[in-house]
Amino acid sequence: MFSEKMTKAMADQVNAEFYSAYLYLSMNSYLASINLAGMAHWMKMQTQEELFHGMKMYDFVLERGGRIILDGIAQPRGEWDSPLDVFEHVYTHEQKVTGLINDLVNIAQDERDHATNIFLQWFITEQIEEEANSSGIVHKLQLIGNDASGLFALDQDLGSRIFTVPTTE
Ligand code: FEO
Repeated sequence: MFSEKMTKAMADQVNAEFYSAYLYLSMNSYLASINLAGMAHWMKMQTQEELFHGMKMYDFVLERGGRIILDGIAQPRGEWDSPLDVFEHVYTHEQKVTGLINDLVNIAQDERDHATNIFLQWFITEQIEEEANSSGIVHKLQLIGNDASGLFALDQDLGSRIFTVPTTE
């Protein structure tokens, strides 16, 4: 059973994951509007991944007899200056999410809530991948600069991303 503090913190994280989905959907719309279909597709896959994160956390809370009171989802930013601006935002956002997950782990450990602590380790590992993926794209975009053929090649590459729901949990 969760403490009141743990329940509220998990509910806030569910909200943060759905906000992430909303933010990435907004980026999808921006990237589609500047005809970068591959990057827009990548962002739609990222949106699905965030919805999965939110539902994974939501289901865990309910499975343990907790209750989630859903909050409103804040309006995400809608405009960016360039694809580099978009992916820099993804990277800084993911760093922020890593901090939120670390805070949750701290609460679970303070409260000796071992089940939640173990559950959250999946998110810790996931955040390593989330940060690595987004910072990798930022570095590629920095190298590409104003080279249109490089941008086209990266767009093609990111267009091949698929999202499959992880089955081994
Ligand atoms: Fe749910 Fe991108 O972390």
